Amino acid sequence: MQRTKVLVIGSLNSDLVVQTPRVPDEGETIMATSFRRCFGGKGANQAVAAVRQGAQTIMAGRVGADSFGEEQVASLRREGIDTKYIVVDEEQVSGVASILIDARGNNRIMVVAGANGAVSPRDIEALVPVMAECSCVVIQLEIPLDAALAAIRKANAQGAKVILDPAPAQPLPLSIYPHITVITPNALEAELLAGVPVNDLVSAKEAAQILLDRGVLAVVITLGSQGVYGLTLAGEFHLPAYEVNVVDTVAAGDTFTGALAALIGSGRSLMYAAEYANAAAALAVTRRGAQLSIPTEDEVRQFLGR
Ligand code: ATP
Ligand code: RIB
Repeated sequence: MQRTKVLVIGSLNSDLVVQTPRVPDEGETIMATSFRRCFGGKGANQAVAAVRQGAQTIMAGRVGADSFGEEQVASLRREGIDTKYIVVDEEQVSGVASILIDARGNNRIMVVAGANGAVSPRDIEALVPVMAECSCVVIQLEIPLDAALAAIRKANAQGAKVILDPAPAQPLPLSIYPHITVITPNALEAELLAGVPVNDLVSAKEAAQILLDRGVLAVVITLGSQGVYGLTLAGEFHLPAYEVNVVDTVAAGDTFTGALAALIGSGRSLMYAAEYANAAAALAVTRRGAQLSIPTEDEVRQFLGR
């Protein structure tokens, strides 16, 4: 039987978003423009991006036994995501992200892990039968590293394609790379992992080659307004970013990775999936919020058909 499901293992946060004309200096108080609470977390955002592109999607992670967690899980369920592998942790509060967005749409994010920080290799062990039914397993680094590494190894052993979004960036053991199918760092993450500065296509290629040599099958570096650079053993590609009106880039990377997973999970080629995800992420930056900004399949197809 052909596997098509996408399993996302990762964080769920409530985003506390302050829109401000500028970021205050140390010791300074300024009047901000607006506040709102939105559903976020890199894992949950990627699950929403996948389900909105038509993938049968399962989310696994932890929330606290509080209203933030309850509301987030209910919202994911309304999206059509299977939430039965989200553990309600009686000891922890739900994850929170404090987000500042300036007038140019740039963001600064501080995450309090809460229950996300309690995801353990034991939780991952319990997911092995689910991994065996999935075409794609998507992982980020907002859960403890030992759990993320266990998830990568187990998912690969179950024959699923493993997509790692190495965010927030942190060094990874060299032994993990051969278990990763596609790694999707942004420029800063690629720089930290590869150990070379990444600011243009030439340096992206250099970083990608270093990661490829470590045993990943495909490296796809997101370069913000410079688009996407991809490298596999079969060759390279660059997809320029779409020219859009940028209002808020929160979850642009998550939209990219989640959409990429949905398309790869349904059997599309890496190149086709990256082209599609580049369009989905371009739409996401034109809207405010994390999960609120993620487009549906119809919206992406309409955008691509313009
Ligand atoms: P974030 O942390 O803000 O969610 P990121 O840093 O993980 O994002 P980026 O490389 O900034 O990831 O952006 C991801 C993708 O979003 C880009 O590869 C591109 O497809 C799209 N994107 C981001 N910024 C722009 C932009 N200014 N114009 C068009 N598309 C953009
Ligand atoms: O990638 C964006 C996400 O990072 C936000 O939704 C926030 O919760 C942090 O996890």
